[in-house]
Amino acid sequence: MKGHWEHVYASKEVDRLGLYEESPEPSISLISRCHIDKDDTVLDVGAGASTLIDYLLDQGYNNIISVDISETALQKLRKRLGEEKSNLVRWITDDITKSVHIDKLSGIALWHDRALLHFLLEEREREMYLAVLKKVVRKGGYVIIATFSLMGAKKCSGLNVMNYDQKILADFLGDDFELVEYFEHTYYTPSGEERPYVYTLFQRKN
Ligand SMILES: C[S@@+](CC[C@H](N)C(=O)[O-])C[C@H]1O[C@@H](n2cnc3c(N)ncnc32)[C@H](O)[C@@H]1O
Repeated sequence: MKGHWEHVYASKEVDRLGLYEESPEPSISLISRCHIDKDDTVLDVGAGASTLIDYLLDQGYNNIISVDISETALQKLRKRLGEEKSNLVRWITDDITKSVHIDKLSGIALWHDRALLHFLLEEREREMYLAVLKKVVRKGGYVIIATFSLMGAKKCSGLNVMNYDQKILADFLGDDFELVEYFEHTYYTPSGEERPYVYTLFQRKN
């Protein structure tokens, strides 16, 4: 997987990639529902070169952790942000299915994942994702997961994906997490293809 994603990010400019989101509006609308402080820890898993980090920094969040399996992706994001801004973010290259760094974190107030989970096809990989999430997200903390919906594409970036709806995601997270809000959102790739997503916001029970 690492080789695949390194190749994806090395092969094109980020804004030409099918996953590129000029403005992360759906995530922003869910973040606005979270009762978190600007110095609470926000973890973006599978951050890639996402524009969400730009938004979070502009809003004054000062405890952001950006995780991706691809070093190239994170380097491109750091370059776009520039040295001053990128020094405000903690950067971690790690594979969430074999975590050696992310699982050492704790007290995460907001876990954000746009389009990582749906690439985890094996039960073992999903179990690892969930084990890390449960280990690091604090009680009362929030989890935003956006995946291709049941109406969505079956492939992305040349890889098969697993499709979800809010119920499947709620079952996946289990009783410890309460579904706060969800909506369907159609994203259009830079080449104009439709990508139906489901966006979900959960809160961990106290
Ligand atoms: C479709 S992209 C989404 C990127 C970003 N969240 C966005 O919205 O633009 C999926 C991202 O997940 C990362 N990824 C895939 N498998 C991963 C894994 N096992 N652990 C960590 N990151 C992974 C990829 O490198 C890629 O950046």
